[in-house]
Amino acid sequence: MAESKKIILGIAGGIAAYKTPELVRRLRERGAEVQVVMTRSAEEFVTGTTLQAVSGLPVRSNLWDKDAEAAMGHIELARWADLVLIAPATAEIMSRLASGAAPDLLTTLCLATHAPLVIAPAMNHVMWSNPAVQANRQVLEARGVRILGPDRGDQACGETGEGRMVEPDAIAAAVTGPTIVADVERPPLIGRKVMITAGPTREAIDPVRYISNRSSGKMAYAMARAAAAAGAEVVLISGPVELTTPDGIQRVDVESAREMFAATHERIDNIDIFIAAAAVADYCAESVQENKIKKTEARMSIELVRTPDILASVAELENGPFTVGFAAETENLREYAISKLEKKNLDMIVANQVGRNRGFDSDDNKVDVFWTAGEQSFPMMPKTELAVALIKLIGERYLERSAPGTRGELADRARIIHE
Ligand SMILES: Cc1cc2nc3c(=O)[nH]c(=O)nc-3n(C[C@H](O)[C@H](O)[C@H](O)COP(=O)(O)O)c2cc1C
Repeated sequence: MAESKKIILGIAGGIAAYKTPELVRRLRERGAEVQVVMTRSAEEFVTGTTLQAVSGLPVRSNLWDKDAEAAMGHIELARWADLVLIAPATAEIMSRLASGAAPDLLTTLCLATHAPLVIAPAMNHVMWSNPAVQANRQVLEARGVRILGPDRGDQACGETGEGRMVEPDAIAAAVTGPTIVADVERPPLIGRKVMITAGPTREAIDPVRYISNRSSGKMAYAMARAAAAAGAEVVLISGPVELTTPDGIQRVDVESAREMFAATHERIDNIDIFIAAAAVADYCAESVQENKIKKTEARMSIELVRTPDILASVAELENGPFTVGFAAETENLREYAISKLEKKNLDMIVANQVGRNRGFDSDDNKVDVFWTAGEQSFPMMPKTELAVALIKLIGERYLERSAPGTRGELADRARIIHE
């Protein structure tokens, strides 16, 4: 149970607002301090007088209330909260939250707070299943907003379906209980910029032929999605793959290792975490034939030269990002991975065994992760799940490196001052 948790209870204009005096009481019984903030529409459903009586605090509703602002400005109020709960959340307020609009006190607070946001939607079941509402739900979820319900059952409109607000007692238990509180913590990478390289590269031999590899890009794309869900701004530098771009991610398409090198370095400034998940060709043809090579000779050879080492070049940057490499090996995985970590001066390396039906192009993967002070193994699991676990681990190590007093934090500060 949370001790004296400070909760802003935002009430929007849904019929379920009539249950909010009960919700305030349940929250207070569990030791929470509750500051009610109502939308203009909510005032049509429940009175401020009732909510003031049960919460013990003056109700806030107007962004332009000079007296209330003088007592506790909206920014102070946003800072005061340990958690913002909106119950009931209307389709309308979900839309404002998803788009970042802030025309009223409640939505302004939501933008101005560092506190986790929990919403309990309540609406007619047809409204809830509307694609626009579902799209907003997805956007909010991806940003780390915790969504409680809605429940299925009889609705105020006389119909039955999914759209009822979760009962006040269950909401109060959820937001003051230990599990959900951990669940709704601020996404760990909010405000951080993550760059991920993905897929194979293609190294041209002549206008129609190239050297490439079996990388599908699935792991990197899953990591991009997971990093965005953890709150990061994500740039994906992608080789040729058959995958759709995850929502909200900036994708830059490239073909060869040289193009990937250039695209990476053009955008590397201000990147906090660099994850080199692309399977970049190690060699390319020394010279690309202008015309298609004819099959006139019984044997032929192509002179290959090394491609630029993108990962090493980023790891070498002064005050560069937290750098994570991938090692795809068919043998001696651990040994190669640790040697690559050390030789290239990386912060972390993710090692995966590749070969027939393993690693490349499959939907599942199993990896070992190494960093200077430790290692962790992840068993075989879907790449989508593995990506979430890897982003969590990378985020933790990155934040540890940036912890007060460390080299990383000093670099971070220098960058902020420089900006
Ligand atoms: C009687 C009545 C009941 C309503 N109930 C709901 C509801 O349960 N859920 C909902 O999303 N909107 C409901 N609405 C529509 C909202 O009140 C309307 O979209 C309003 O603009 C919401 O504003 P707010 O989100 O700022 O409170 C209802 C409207 C009326 C007139």
